Amino acid sequence: MSQHFQHDVLVIGSGAAGLTLALTLPDNLSIAVLSKGELTNGSTYWAQGGVAAVLDHSDTVDSHVNDTLSAGAGLCREDAVRFTVEHSREAIEWLIEQGVPFTRDDEHDREDGGFEFHLTREGGHSHRRIIHAADATGAAIFNTLLERTRQRDNVVLLEQRVAVDLITERKLGRDGQRCLGAYVLNRRSGEVDTHHARFVVLATGGAAKVYLYTSNPDGACGDGIAMAWRAGCRVGNLEFNQFHPTCLYHPQAKSFLITEALRGEGALLRLPNGERFMPRFDPREELAPRDIVARAIDHEMKRLGVDCVYLDISHKPADFVRNHFPTVYQRCLEFGIDITRQPIPVVPAAHYTCGGVMVDQAGRSDLQGLYAIGETSFTGLHGANRMASNSLLECFVYARSAAADIVANLEHVTMPANLPSWDASQVTDSDEDVIIAHNWDELRRFMWDYVGIVRTTKRLQRAQHRVRLLLDEIDEFYSNYKVSRDLIELRNLAQVAELMILSAMARKESRGLHYTLDYPDLLPEPRDTIVRPANADG
Ligand code: FAD
Ligand code: SIN
Repeated sequence: MSQHFQHDVLVIGSGAAGLTLALTLPDNLSIAVLSKGELTNGSTYWAQGGVAAVLDHSDTVDSHVNDTLSAGAGLCREDAVRFTVEHSREAIEWLIEQGVPFTRDDEHDREDGGFEFHLTREGGHSHRRIIHAADATGAAIFNTLLERTRQRDNVVLLEQRVAVDLITERKLGRDGQRCLGAYVLNRRSGEVDTHHARFVVLATGGAAKVYLYTSNPDGACGDGIAMAWRAGCRVGNLEFNQFHPTCLYHPQAKSFLITEALRGEGALLRLPNGERFMPRFDPREELAPRDIVARAIDHEMKRLGVDCVYLDISHKPADFVRNHFPTVYQRCLEFGIDITRQPIPVVPAAHYTCGGVMVDQAGRSDLQGLYAIGETSFTGLHGANRMASNSLLECFVYARSAAADIVANLEHVTMPANLPSWDASQVTDSDEDVIIAHNWDELRRFMWDYVGIVRTTKRLQRAQHRVRLLLDEIDEFYSNYKVSRDLIELRNLAQVAELMILSAMARKESRGLHYTLDYPDLLPEPRDTIVRPANADG
């Protein structure tokens, strides 16, 4: 039997953004945090490099702001960048207070005003400003925040719960523009439950799974973006899909990431013959922003007809490499590559969704009571290309600011009443799951081929034609069969893919991560691509 639940705050997502929000809200509120699989299944757990913040006495807010603006290729919103960077130190202090075991800098002279934790460098940053826990920063942060959340009696963590759609006043034919809760598939009971909430927060992560090759875990399907879109929210800048330049090239490695911090600590990119190539592409060489490095690798691989290039840190002392990069060292060793002695075969893979649900500085979306934080949101911080390690920072800063906004509005919002149960009376069990698997594969393959690092109008048109066919097929399937995690994710991925293609077709220039052979130049006026649903809830 499907059930009804009531929460002051329903947080959809248990990554850095969702857990930070839950921990920042007061403990007299009832909070539910959902994860569609195990709690660890978001990107947060896998983050390697670290969190960018102004921490060292020789660094400044202006410098971090300027680096972010420059990486964002003219499209960042300066107020969002400044807001995020100005709150970076307090976000890190909060994480340290929670007990995150960041790597210490034993050699640093603290009396000199220096910072007691080790700071590394990554592409686009003109300073050492990445605080990290060796090369497994995400796991260190996630484990700490999860442990803290488990100590809170007012927070319930619900695994294997997949949000299907938001419940809105408009959807129910009521007056108003408020979000009232969500329908959520409980994968253990197989029922779709109704969650009533005074506030709903989307913290569902990105959509890189739309591509065949990705550094992201399986759940990165853009669920939050698709749900918000169907509920009537605007989405922005979805054409900017970031490809991480260096994922391990090995048939069994499933796009394991080789952190950019390797390049920050001196690793060099080489062609199969050992020659370096980044100096030919950018004066910042291996530490140019990601869009430039990924495009350079793509160019060289196509020019030479090779399957990968190589990342080489073997010139550094072996102890240094093993101490700084224990995860990468160990993982590569499992595939027979000793990174202290050999170069690592690498290729670019889809990594980060720069656009998302449009929000303001408090994480508020277009719907009252609906917030979006973390990778699912579009705050204006990243512009046309996210700078390394600014993503986790955005999760912490906006989660804390959304929590403050919820607290400020609590007394005006009552618990939604009389929400109808999910109607499953018209659907049956599917006997054709093979269609879902086939469509998943087809979608991810043509997105990789036609909407990848280098685009053309013709390829985008092809992708648009195919995604529309898929969407029709998926809609029919969705109307006739019971929902499953795979079907929900496919429906959302296809929706987000359509929005990505639409946004890419609307941009008649090449800027940051969006590079098209048909419009190779930059337009003089930088503009966001904002898409508004014509038929909200329809
Ligand atoms: P996630 O951590 O992705 O969590 C999403 C959550 O939402 C999950 O719990 C998932 O189960 C849940 N969810 C999604 N859909 C639903 C649904 N329909 N119903 C219920 N629950 C749902 N960024 C940095 O700044 N520094 C780094 O060093 C760094 N390294 C990275 C390394 C890798 C390999 C990857 C993949 C990313 C890295 N990033 C890094 C990016 C960064 O990790 C992510 O952008 C960030 O962790 C996103 O956090 P989040 O809280 O928004 O979402
Ligand atoms: C990495 O460690 O290279 C990932 C950093 C990021 O995505 O910000």
